[in-house]
Amino acid sequence: MRMSRKMEHVEHALRIGQVGNQGLADIKFVHNCLPDASVDDIHLHTAIGDLDLSSPILINAMTGGADETRSINRELAVAARECGLAMAVGSQMSAIKNPEVASSYRVVRSVNPDGILIGNLGSEATVEQALRAVEMIGANALQIHLNVMQELIMPEGDRSFKGALERIADIASNVPVPVIVKEVGFGIMRESAAKLIRLPIAAIDVGGTGGTNFAAIENARRPQAYEWLNDWGNPTAIALLESLSVWPRGRVIASGGIRNGLECAKALALGASAAGIAGAALRVLQTEGTAALIDYLRRIHEELRLVMTALGAASIEELWNVPLVVSGESAEWCELRGID
Ligand code: FNR
Repeated sequence: MRMSRKMEHVEHALRIGQVGNQGLADIKFVHNCLPDASVDDIHLHTAIGDLDLSSPILINAMTGGADETRSINRELAVAARECGLAMAVGSQMSAIKNPEVASSYRVVRSVNPDGILIGNLGSEATVEQALRAVEMIGANALQIHLNVMQELIMPEGDRSFKGALERIADIASNVPVPVIVKEVGFGIMRESAAKLIRLPIAAIDVGGTGGTNFAAIENARRPQAYEWLNDWGNPTAIALLESLSVWPRGRVIASGGIRNGLECAKALALGASAAGIAGAALRVLQTEGTAALIDYLRRIHEELRLVMTALGAASIEELWNVPLVVSGESAEWCELRGID
């Protein structure tokens, strides 16, 4: 029997891995030898719009919709609960079309009844479908993903992307929870960010290149690969700089290739309120198990506390104000694009 598309994504994501460069090496902290701070005083709480979070790390949207993905979602939800993290499920469209698979999403709420859980649909969704996705998992927020290049490379993918802004605006005006618009790893850049800020949405997740590569994943599923598209998109660091030239701090999430506390700290220092981790968390879960995933996520918290102490930043807001140097390709890009 053919593997479900959802499991193919998981398998290819694990096989291809996180090989790109998310650009955060271009972001350098300026060492502070007098931080006047103590590890015990570091606070990691944050907010995405009106959504209060005890940690700036979120487990980003990955899966659901097939039997094998139920256990992945269950274990991710256990890790999210144990570490006090928000967690998004993968696109719920499959369960909206086929309610038999809804338990592969609902499991996250039964495992983590009091946690912050985020629903997920594509921009083709209707208001009615969005309401059902929120209800399905008792979601505290809803992500709407933008994945144009993934769809175009996917043989069975969408071919028209017209009307997405109008549909997102309609959803955001009619669901009872904050809406977050996210990319899946090609980056939200200034022109798109400027269109999105006019919508009644709470936040964007810039989802840049340098982590999970959906061009490569879909190419691996195609009989004839469009390998020339494997480098499509823009790195997370640049997507953050571009998006934050339009969006205010407090409403931007960083994701795409974030794997450790230093990378989280850099993404947050650029002005993000939270950092999403998908592929790296999936790899730890699938190769080493749930306990290792919990250790990994706790280690990121510790690394973040350590870096924040060294920088003398006791909170995420203080981290936004530490001095940074942007060098290399990111600096050159910003200069060419006129971004301060
Ligand atoms: C994803 N991602 C994703 N995003 C989304 O909005 N809806 C989805 O259904 C999925 N599905 C999915 C499956 C798998 C196996 C992976 C690894 C990822 C994209 C994910 O949320 C994130 O935006 C990108 O993976 C970039 O982050 P990382 O993986 O580099 O941390």
